[in-house]
Amino acid sequence: MSGTALQLASPVDGIRLTLHVLAAAVWVGGQVTMLGLTGPAKTLGVDAPRTLARAFNKLAWPAYGVLFLTGMWNLAALHSESMGEGSGMQVDASTSWNAVFGIKMVMFLLAGVAAFLHTRATSKTQLAIWGSVSGTASLVALALGVFVAG
Ligand code: HEM
Repeated sequence: MSGTALQLASPVDGIRLTLHVLAAAVWVGGQVTMLGLTGPAKTLGVDAPRTLARAFNKLAWPAYGVLFLTGMWNLAALHSESMGEGSGMQVDASTSWNAVFGIKMVMFLLAGVAAFLHTRATSKTQLAIWGSVSGTASLVALALGVFVAG
């Protein structure tokens, strides 16, 4: 039997993707967790859901910033992947890769804008609409991220 052995990611690639996935876990997983916790939290007191939401906000926005910064790092790393040390050859993205990546960027921006409007909501309807738009856009961005990673 002949074949190519599976190769590990380089240490720098490992750190880059770990930070990106960790930030995605906090931003996306946190929203899913809040969805499950805010209802039951009402039994702890009328202010409990708000207290939880404010605490989550302090974790979520730094994670959103880390997603952007490590996302730019991902792009730079993918575009400078060379065909060997020092060859300087550029890797081109396919049309479908560019399209999916573009949709991912729209979802990223929509998730952020909707999350911001969710924090500024003045009615339960606004809270529900912006919360679900942000959650859905975040989940789509996560799935598209897996596809662009290939
Ligand atoms: C809601 C925001 C985001 C989420 C949830 C998210 C999630 C993910 C996930 C889960 C992966 C797959 C990692 C893997 O399988 O190894 C990924 C890859 C990637 N993401 Fe994001 N991401 C987000 C925002 C961004 C932003 C803002 C950018 C660019 C500025 C970006 C650029 C990339 C690139 C280029 C890859 C491929 C990395 C590679 O193959 O080395 N992401 N993302």
